[in-house]
Amino acid sequence: MERKEISQAVIGRLPRYYRYLGELRDEGVERISSQELSRKMQVTASQIRQDLNHFGGFGQQGYGYNVEYLYVEIAKILGLDKEHYLILIGAGNLGQALLNYNNFARRGFIFKGIFDKNPELHGTKIRDIEIRPMEEISNFVKDNNIDIAVLTIPKNGAIKVAETLVACNIKAIWNFAHVDLNVPESVQVENVHLSDSLMKLSYNSSRYQGMKNEGQKAGD
Ligand code: NAI
Repeated sequence: MERKEISQAVIGRLPRYYRYLGELRDEGVERISSQELSRKMQVTASQIRQDLNHFGGFGQQGYGYNVEYLYVEIAKILGLDKEHYLILIGAGNLGQALLNYNNFARRGFIFKGIFDKNPELHGTKIRDIEIRPMEEISNFVKDNNIDIAVLTIPKNGAIKVAETLVACNIKAIWNFAHVDLNVPESVQVENVHLSDSLMKLSYNSSRYQGMKNEGQKAGD
């Protein structure tokens, strides 16, 4: 299938389709109309059709979507049809929380190595994976086919670590450090800032309360 440039907004919605379809599939649902999917996901049916049309549609008039087929196709689009090997850098609170989350492995994201600059941690294990010194990163990445590095370190060390990762041809960085990384085009970076999500929640909550108070005043 020919791939056009797809907007990041569409890509951002695919994991949610994938999750919902996975649940339907686990419930034994074989097919679903775009209206039903729309009701479940609280997204308009036309949005679903538009999003999926970027990849060739998948739906049939009068039939809807074949759940299994769509699930598998979206998995392929998201690159979930193969395993990804990960290293994590920064074995602190956040790093350990990510390492302890089982679902990443279920989705094919396999942690192979852990690195930290603190010598006291070297040789200790999290989930049977040894924590190694930073000097071993380059060889480890090459020897173990690592394609994704997860950065859970403070921002002051992150730029230098990213340079090391670029030098050993890492393909992608999942960046939790609060700093923008300057990497070549060939390296994909996904920044995650949980506090951004919390601030958005705070905004929406304040806005809702504000509107409610305005409504009450108007009703007085
Ligand atoms: P932590 O202090 O528990 O762990 C940090 C670990 O990184 C330590 O083991 C430390 O030895 C290691 N480390 C520090 N600098 C390093 C370097 N240059 N190279 C290799 N290892 C290094 O901290 P925590 O709570 O795990 O947070 C880690 C970082 O992630 C913090 O800087 C925090 O700002 C950030 N963070 C980001 C979030 C996000 O949503 N993006 C959420 C929570 C934390």
